[in-house]
Amino acid sequence: MRAAITAVGGYVPEKVLTNKDLEKLVDTSDEWIQSRTGIKERRVMPTGQATSDICVHAIQKILSKRGISADEIDLIIVATVTPDHVFPATANIVSDKIGASNAWGFDLGAACSGFLYALETGTKFIESGKHKKVIVCGADTMSAIVNYQDRNTCIIFGDGGGAVLLEPSEDGNGVIDSILRSDGSGREFLNQKAGGSMYPPTHESIDAREHYVFQEGKTVFKFAVTNMANVGREIMDRNNLEGKDIDFLCAHQANLRIIDATAKRMELDDDKVLINIEKYGNTTAGTIPLLFSDFENKFKKGDNVVLAAFGGGFTWGSIYLKWAYNS
Ligand code: UT7
Repeated sequence: MRAAITAVGGYVPEKVLTNKDLEKLVDTSDEWIQSRTGIKERRVMPTGQATSDICVHAIQKILSKRGISADEIDLIIVATVTPDHVFPATANIVSDKIGASNAWGFDLGAACSGFLYALETGTKFIESGKHKKVIVCGADTMSAIVNYQDRNTCIIFGDGGGAVLLEPSEDGNGVIDSILRSDGSGREFLNQKAGGSMYPPTHESIDAREHYVFQEGKTVFKFAVTNMANVGREIMDRNNLEGKDIDFLCAHQANLRIIDATAKRMELDDDKVLINIEKYGNTTAGTIPLLFSDFENKFKKGDNVVLAAFGGGFTWGSIYLKWAYNS
């Protein structure tokens, strides 16, 4: 028995922040952003809404598509680095908002690899036989922690995310293999320094803008290119897959150049590489479920799909699955 994705839902807020808008905030240009990252615009959540709202919209799409009620859900996992609050968990807030009265849940923080970590975790609850319906969300409200005075970071990130429903599958489709890695020595290159127990928020930390995302872009880029490409190749090799055997690569949307390098290493033709970074930027844990929802109509039952991500921590990994339904 395998754990299969049997429905997907995505959500981005309506408000668009274009590269031209950012030109008015920092010393940058539309040309620089597009050529260095592939991003044209990103979305921003309205004031008063947060990551739980992204998850709620995405899950409601899944429930209505599948005609199931929220109280059938056993478990909700929310991958995010921008929870509504430090506690309670965003998963608890989501459960309450959708009326998932029989579900338990928790948040999982692995930055841009969060959705992969959460998918692997949800998969184990299905494979164990313990649960029949698990919701895995990947969502982030990056605008809450982005410094719109820092051109190194504000041009990259956006808000949005999505969710998948995992159910047991007996026909061979579903999650087949995963490789997940982490290396905490990379923590100094991509982080949100203040606000946790090491540096609780103070007037000084706010003045120093330490409650925002910090990234040493060039260093992260080097690690991301190497590790995402290597892990994608590794999962192919150990499952005896060649480029021609893979139908789609769903890679974390951090930078078009990183995605291209990964696809090249995996020897994939361009039409197999799903890309929507131009519309949403980097939504951290949200990118892979947003690819699923944008390109759902392309997937066919039995398709070989490889997921790959790299993010803060450092965290990275790859998952190989067989798509389980025709939409
Ligand atoms: O999602 C989780 C993991 N994160 C990632 O994977 C992101 C990885 N990093 C990146 O995607 C890239 O490093 C960035 C997009 C963040 C930056 O691109 P880059 O090609 O690595 O640029 P850079 O930082 O090496 O900067 C090149 C030049 C510098 O100017 P000089 O020193 O050559 O004169 C920067 O000051 O570009 C300048 N620059 C900018 N110029 C215009 C940096 N940011 C900007 C900007 N607009 N926004």
